Order: sequence, then structure tokens, then C-alpha cells
Amino acid sequence: MATVQMRVRPEDLSQVPKGSERIPEAGIMVIFGASGDLTKRKLLPALFHLEQVGLLPKEFAIVGVARRPLGDEFAADMRAGIVEFGSVDTSDPKLNDFARRISYFPLKFDDPADYAGLKTELDRIDKERGIGGNRLFYLATAPEYFAPIIQNLGEHKMAQPRRGQVGVVIEKPFGHDLESARELNHQVNAVFQESQVFRIDHYLGKETVQNMLVFRFANGIFEPIWNRNYIDHVQITAAETLGVEGRGPFYEKAGALRDVVQNHMMELLSFVTMEPPSSFDAEAVRREKVKVWRAIPPIPILNAVRGQYGSGIVEGQKVIGYRDEERVNPESGTETYAALRLEIENWRWAGVPFFLRAGKRLKKRATEISIQFKQPPLLIFNRMANSGPCQEIQPNLITFRIQPDEGISLRFGAKVPTTPNMDVCPVIMDFDYAAAFGKSSANGYERLLLDAMLGDPTLFSHRDGVEINWALYTPILEAWAAKSPEVFPNYFAGSWGPECSDHLLERTGHKWRNDLGRKA
Ligand code: BG6
Repeated sequence: MATVQMRVRPEDLSQVPKGSERIPEAGIMVIFGASGDLTKRKLLPALFHLEQVGLLPKEFAIVGVARRPLGDEFAADMRAGIVEFGSVDTSDPKLNDFARRISYFPLKFDDPADYAGLKTELDRIDKERGIGGNRLFYLATAPEYFAPIIQNLGEHKMAQPRRGQVGVVIEKPFGHDLESARELNHQVNAVFQESQVFRIDHYLGKETVQNMLVFRFANGIFEPIWNRNYIDHVQITAAETLGVEGRGPFYEKAGALRDVVQNHMMELLSFVTMEPPSSFDAEAVRREKVKVWRAIPPIPILNAVRGQYGSGIVEGQKVIGYRDEERVNPESGTETYAALRLEIENWRWAGVPFFLRAGKRLKKRATEISIQFKQPPLLIFNRMANSGPCQEIQPNLITFRIQPDEGISLRFGAKVPTTPNMDVCPVIMDFDYAAAFGKSSANGYERLLLDAMLGDPTLFSHRDGVEINWALYTPILEAWAAKSPEVFPNYFAGSWGPECSDHLLERTGHKWRNDLGRKA
């Protein structure tokens, strides 16, 4: 397809606001499961970036908690993580001061005796730094420890202190099916009030995800066409080139549907499809998201397909199949790819198919949402098209590139100049985040950590939403668990997934878009 590029820039760069973020009050962030990868790769680099831009309070401490008997080496390791994963220069003058705020407390998550010691340690740091009782507990452990940690925080009076604000951030997966999510919600709400709970989904911290709301609700021209009258179908893809990266035991229990579809992709879907909230406050946004999720009827099992990667070549490198990955069952039936078709039964969307797919070890890393519009009622030009490269008239397409190469593009047809015929060629009008605003190093966690410290739940999942999404996916998970897949592995690493996924779309005359990424 020949494409023509048009760049979009801020109309006037001097008008780009510098940001008007609030700085949270003094506090201690206590990270449970701090010896895991997430802390070093994402959380600490995110906190340090907040420090660099002056958004952390002066009195702020980070206490890592995990089972291993670590000491000062923990702070040194986190400092190294900030440099490596946060692309920070080792000579950054703020780095040493920041590392001095980090300490470690060894604790067995299910041993009540250790929590008394933790409380004493937090009170000591609090007094030393004049923090005033504010605490944010971040649960980054394996999910089976969420409930014991919460219960112990409650029993040791750390959830409802006499002074200060306390919150708890809970990582995904929040439960592994509807029943376990309900039970976990119950355990959490027995100790913390809902307003103290921040169920994190790092997709909501991504600028491009938030920008979908701005695109839809801060611009007058898109909403009138954002409905079944103009939109043919929507595709949401979360394609990764990575495999399970040493997380075999976790992934064996999760699989693509639980790991990515039930949470990240459903959040993306809600941002594309929800009605305009009356304001951008947590309650108004949550209400609209829940409304649209509730309008999704049960997904027939025939409309969901699964896949597992075998060996293959990804980005020029030979890679092993899923069943040969470390600590994975050699006969594993876990899906590393899931695709499905769903509908939304409301006035805006009735009859519009939504296709979602997520997979590991695919051809290209790209998370994208594409909105394909209907063709004009009469195609007068393609009748006269010649046989050149541009003869096909393609429907209009709006694409949100969530990552990488963040941006938005609009495809439309243009007349090819100088030919005698009315040849129509698809051209792309492209807005590129980095070109317009400069490259951002934010990883999604910065925004969310800041919001949690400020007590703003707008970009976090609420208990209703979590349960509605589990209710939608639990029947599929149960059906898949009851029947082993016939042929696994069923796609090569480095391909676009299993054939059954293409057939899923062919049934309605559609086709996956595999030309993802920026067309420069
Ligand atoms: C995580 C999943 O939640 O999201 C991972 O557990 C997945 O398996 C990751 O790789 C994808 O996140 P991102 O931000 O790289 O798209």
C-alpha cells in the first residue's frame, strides 16, 4: 500500500503546558515482594523519575519488604535498577540522596509475628523523618500472599491508623476467576475501605491510553461518528515479541486470557467504547466503564480461540517453544495467545464486532486499537481504478498506537496526482507523540504511583469492574480448562498467531490488520 505521510505537531509549542501536578504529602511507601523484578525494573525507576521532576515530597521513604535476608545491598541493587531500567545517568546528583531513602525489612508474608516488627520499624522511620503517619502499602508479591498480608496489616492496626492517610496498591492478577476475585475483594474490604484501595492496571498509566479519552471527549468532530452508524468494526491487539521471560510458574497458572485480556485489554476496550462521563472524576469515569462492560453479553465459546507458541524465529533470533521454557510443563495446555470476538449491546454499539487478540512471541511488538469505518454507500472511483499499486479503495481507519511509536493515525483516500484517471490512494495523516511532544521515558507506573499517593482512584480498577470482567471470562476459562487443546503448539514463534484466529474473523468477512506500527 502506498502511503503518504503528514505530520501533526502542537499548533504552538509554547502553548504546551508544563504540567500542574500536585505534590503528595510526606509518606512511606512499603513495597511487599520488593526483591522481585517489578520493584527494580518499574517501581523504583518510576519513583526516581518523580523525584527528578520534583513530584515527590521532601520527606519520603521507601521500605522494601520480602522474605530474603537482605540488608544495605537492597538499596544498592535498587540504585543499579534505576540506572539500568530508568535510563538514568550514574552521575545524576539526585541519585545518592534518593538511594538513602531506601531501606529493607525482611518479613515472612504469612507470619503474624513479623508484622509487629514491621510496625515498629515504620514508626521509627516516621518519627525520624517527621512523616505524620502516611503510608502506602504496595503489594507486589505472588497473588497468594495478598490476603495474608492484608489480614496482618489489619490485625496489627496498620490499615486504619490513628493519624495519617493509608492506602494499599494491589498488583494484578486480582483473583484468578470470579469466585476468587469476589473472595479477595471481600478480604480487602474487611480491612480497608474501598477509597483506600488502588487495584493497579499499569495500562491505565500509559499516556496513550489516557489520550484516547482526550481524543474522544476533548474534540468535537469524532464523537458524532463514534457509533454503529459509521463504524464497521474495532480491532484491539496486544502483540508481544517476548516470551515468558523466566516467569514460567506464574504464566502456567495465568495464560494470555487472565494475564492480559481480562484486565489490560478490557480497560482499553472501555476507553474506546464508554459514553462520555460527566466529569473526569473517579466515580463518573467508573460508572461509564462499568455500564459498557455490563452491556457485553456472554461470549460464545466458539468466538474465543487460543494458541501456544512453538519454536521459531523472532526478530532474527531463534527461540524455543513455550513447552521448552524454564519451569514450564512439557505438555502444558496454557495458552500464550488468545483472540475473541465480542459485542456490546447498547444503542451506540449494537451489531459492531470487537475483535481482541493478545499473544506472546508474535511477529512484532505492537499494542494498537484500530477503528475501521464503513465504506461510503457508493464507491464511484474504484470502478475506474487502473492496475497500479493504489487501485484498491480502503475504508477509513483510525489507529491508536498505544506502544511502541505512540501516536494516532487516520487513513483516508486521496487522488493520485497527474494520472488521467481518478485513481485513489490510501494516505495516512499521522500524529506521533515523540515528534510532537518529545520522547517520554514514563513507564505507566509514574502516573499511577503519584495518583495513589495523592489518593486519586480515577485510573485504578474498582471492585465492580474487576468482578464484571471475571464474570465475562470465567466461563471461557472453565471451558478451556475442561477440554485440552487439540493441537498445541499451534503457532510458530515469530508468526501472527494460530490459523484458528484468522478463521474467527473470516467468519464475519473480516481480517486481522497485521501491518501494525508507524508507516513512516
Ligand atoms: C503484564 C503481563 O501485566 O503486562 C505481562 O503480566 C505482559 O505478561 C505485560 O508482558 C505487558 O505490558 P506492556 O506494558 O509491556 O505492554
